[in-house]
Formats: sequence, C-alpha cells, structure tokens
Amino acid sequence: MEYSIAVLKGDGIGPEIVSEAMRALEAVGEKFGHTFTFTEALIGGAAIDAVGECLPERTVDICQGSDSVLLGAVGGPKWDSQPAANRPEKALLGIRKELGLFANIRPAQLWAPLADACPLKPERLGNGLDLVVVRELTGDVYFGEKKRDADGRAHDDMTYSVAEIERIARRAFEMARQRNNHVTSVDKANVLETSRLWRETVARVAEGYPDVELDYLYVDNAAMQLVLNPSQFDVILTGNLFGDILSDEASCITGSIGMLPSASLSLSSRGMYEPIHGSAPDIAGKNLANPIATILSAAMMLRYSFNLPAEAKAIEDAVGRVLDAGFRTADIAKPGDEYMTCSDMGRAICAEIKNG
Ligand code: IPM
Ligand code: MG
Repeated sequence: MEYSIAVLKGDGIGPEIVSEAMRALEAVGEKFGHTFTFTEALIGGAAIDAVGECLPERTVDICQGSDSVLLGAVGGPKWDSQPAANRPEKALLGIRKELGLFANIRPAQLWAPLADACPLKPERLGNGLDLVVVRELTGDVYFGEKKRDADGRAHDDMTYSVAEIERIARRAFEMARQRNNHVTSVDKANVLETSRLWRETVARVAEGYPDVELDYLYVDNAAMQLVLNPSQFDVILTGNLFGDILSDEASCITGSIGMLPSASLSLSSRGMYEPIHGSAPDIAGKNLANPIATILSAAMMLRYSFNLPAEAKAIEDAVGRVLDAGFRTADIAKPGDEYMTCSDMGRAICAEIKNG
C-alpha cells in the first residue's frame, strides 16, 4: 500500500528527530512492502521566519490532503515576542482544530532498561507504570471565548458540550478495552459546572461499556495519586487543560520524556503524531537529541491511522532491542557514560527494524 504523510518538522530539534522517524518509516516500508510518501510543510517559528505566519494555509491544505501528519516540535525563545495570535504554539492549536483532532493519546510507560531514570522510589511503582492519558484536545478553556475588559480583567471561557464529552469518553472506553479495562475520569466536579456535565456524561457513556471499570478522581487528587501510586491507573480520561497538566506529570514520572510518543486523533483515520517533548532549542542542530519519541510516534501512526499493527510493533520491538543492547542518547545515558548522536540512534533502530 501507499500512504501519504505530511511532515511538519517545526523548530529546534524538530528537523533532526523527524528525519530519523522518516528513516524508520522507510525501513518499515522496505521490510513490509509499503510506500510512504512525504510532503514537508512549514509550521511554527520556521513558518513565521519564512512566510510571516505560524500556520500558513498551504500547510493546512497539505495536511488535509495527506493520510496522516508527522510533527516534530514548535516554538523557541526566538519567537517569544510574537503577538499571541502568531506564536508558534498558536499553530499547534490551529492545526488541532483544523484537522478535528479531538483525542490526544499520551501513553506513559516505563522502559525496563531505563527503570533507573524513574524519579519515584521503586516501592511506589507497585506493579509498574503503564498508563495512557486520553485528553480532550479541541474544547475547554483552550478554545472558549477569550477577552480583556477595560477595567483590567481577563476571561477564558471554560466550556464543554455533551457531544464533545461523549466522543472523547467513547475513545477512552475503547482504549481501555484494548488495555486493562479500567478508566479513571478526572475532573473538578466539586467546583466546576463543566466538570459536573463531564461526570454525568461519562457515566452515561459508561453504560455502553459494562466490561470497563470506571472511577472518578478530582484533578488535585489525581495529580497526587500519580506520584503516590501510579500503578492504579490504566486509562486516564480528562479535559484539555487538566490533560495538559497531568500528561506532563505522567511523562516525567517515567524519567525519560525523550522516549514518549503521542497521537492526536480525529473521527477520520487522519491523525497527527508527535513526541511529547518540546523543541529543546538549547541542543538544536547539535545532533544530540533523542529521536526515539518521534520514532515511536511514527509507530503510533502505523497502528492508529494505517491499521498496521505488525509494522508498528516492528518499530517498537526494534527500539526495545536497541535499548537492551545499551545504546543511549545523552538524555537517557547515565552521567559519565558514553552516548550516541541522534542520527546514530536513528540508524541503529533502522538496522534493528531490518534485522527484526
Ligand atoms: C502540549 C503543549 C501545548 C498544549 C502548548 C504548546 C500549546 O503544552 O501539547 O501539551 O498546551 O496543548
Ligand atoms: Mg503540554
């Protein structure tokens, strides 16, 4: 089969890590007989520099004309003085909205060879750390009305509709069915009306999934439980703002944010796939970044957008074997140990894909 992929390398380390993910996809293509065609487009600071706007229309068109989208990272200090409407981050929100990417899937798992990097005491880990945050991505306070009053007050309207809550809740329950049949819905229903609607709606959707266990946590408690007893979680279902915060927390307790991929899914098979980490301007262009999160994001694309689970697993297994063999980039190497470059890590993973 042939699959078309829009490639948005973005800023900072974006170009380096995305190039390695493209290489990994090509290796998979060779092995399994698929063709991946790549069309690059500008986003974020790179787009501001080239054409003056963070999300050019042409970029949206290229994404909409492709089977899926691979993204590096956007932003950096260079563009901090841009007006709010043209900041690189705005491009991310814009492309999510344009492509209808309402479901953000952020798995946080501990890779056994990197277990030392976990900042939690081993006894806190119980039977391990393997959860996924299912974050609603196109609603909430992110997209509600924003305004400033003359008297110096600012507003960000937090809003959710039943339909928006239903479709993300269904995604979370479906996800739980492919994992350990447990959803924890996180809200602030003791204070927020949107959260009360969230809870009612999730409860109603849950009736269609009697095989999935459902519980609720307030977001403050959830933040605490994530560091006290993370193994109680399977699927965390939450809104846009709480999901933003909790997914950073969940990823950092694995100790290796350079390893974690993410998927943003729509009602169609087109999704956008990107590492959880940012553009790391301090190491940009030095060939020091860890490409694994982006390579694993490409694996998620194969699984969720192209329905190619064996091909996805070939990438994930290759990453596992490379780590088992002791290969490390700087971010996951022990202090004082040797480490390899971004491109060497990419090559090592490709070799494993071909051998696997
Ligand atoms: C993320 C980021 C974005 C978000 C920012 C960069 C707009 O933090 O993807 O988690 O808040 O969604
Ligand atoms: Mg975030």
